[in-house]
Amino acid sequence: MLKPVVAANWKMHKTLKEAEDYLHRLLELVGAEPPVELVICPSFTALALAARVLAGSPIALGAQNGHPQKEGAFTGEVSMHQLADLGVRYVICGHSERRHLFGETDAFVAEKVNAAWAYGLTPILCVGETLEERRAGQAWEVVERQLRAALADGLSGPLVIAYEPVWAIGTGVPAQPQDAQDMARRIRAWLVEHFGAAGKDVRIQYGGSVKPENAHAFLRLPDIQGALVGGASLDPDAFWRIALAASGDRPSW
Ligand code: PGA
Repeated sequence: MLKPVVAANWKMHKTLKEAEDYLHRLLELVGAEPPVELVICPSFTALALAARVLAGSPIALGAQNGHPQKEGAFTGEVSMHQLADLGVRYVICGHSERRHLFGETDAFVAEKVNAAWAYGLTPILCVGETLEERRAGQAWEVVERQLRAALADGLSGPLVIAYEPVWAIGTGVPAQPQDAQDMARRIRAWLVEHFGAAGKDVRIQYGGSVKPENAHAFLRLPDIQGALVGGASLDPDAFWRIALAASGDRPSW
């Protein structure tokens, strides 16, 4: 049985004071042994603070991005090596905002995934189709291409996959739970086909307008083991309510 993993993607939000208040409140809510794995991905500016506040707690630290090179002349970038040094354990790779707003290619996302493993981090690999691609019946084709590219060199460490249809991100319009389930089932089958038993250990999240009100509908689906949450993760109480929706008896697939 896979333990669900619920991750907060703060994107470009929160000052240090806001980040600190949030984390103290979340720690209060979560207690010593939360029933699901929780990951907080703050902005780079708040990572060191978050590492300090979360040290020794059951909440893991994640980053929203990371550069594959260990170090060098890459102005404005932060490397996976530096993230690992800070105590970061997860790193989001290939978020659709990175792909679409910053031109990240499938090949670059693959480099990031491999570098994450090289430095002992767990990549949260984001995949998902645009509305046009879904309407054209190409949703699986696109997701499969993204998976194939990102995992071309194999599965060399623990992995989380976030299925995030682009049109559901930040729009308040989530996918239909049945569509998310269908996609997650196909992703799982693909992973097992390509990587055998190791493909069964990958946790698959749904992301895109997850809120406390709809979290149940996604987190109880048989092939979904967590969520990647943007907007609704900015409030610690709302994020915790979402995390709780992922707890309870999980069907073992
Ligand atoms: P959202 O973002 O929850 O605000 O839709 C999800 C994401 O971008 O990971």
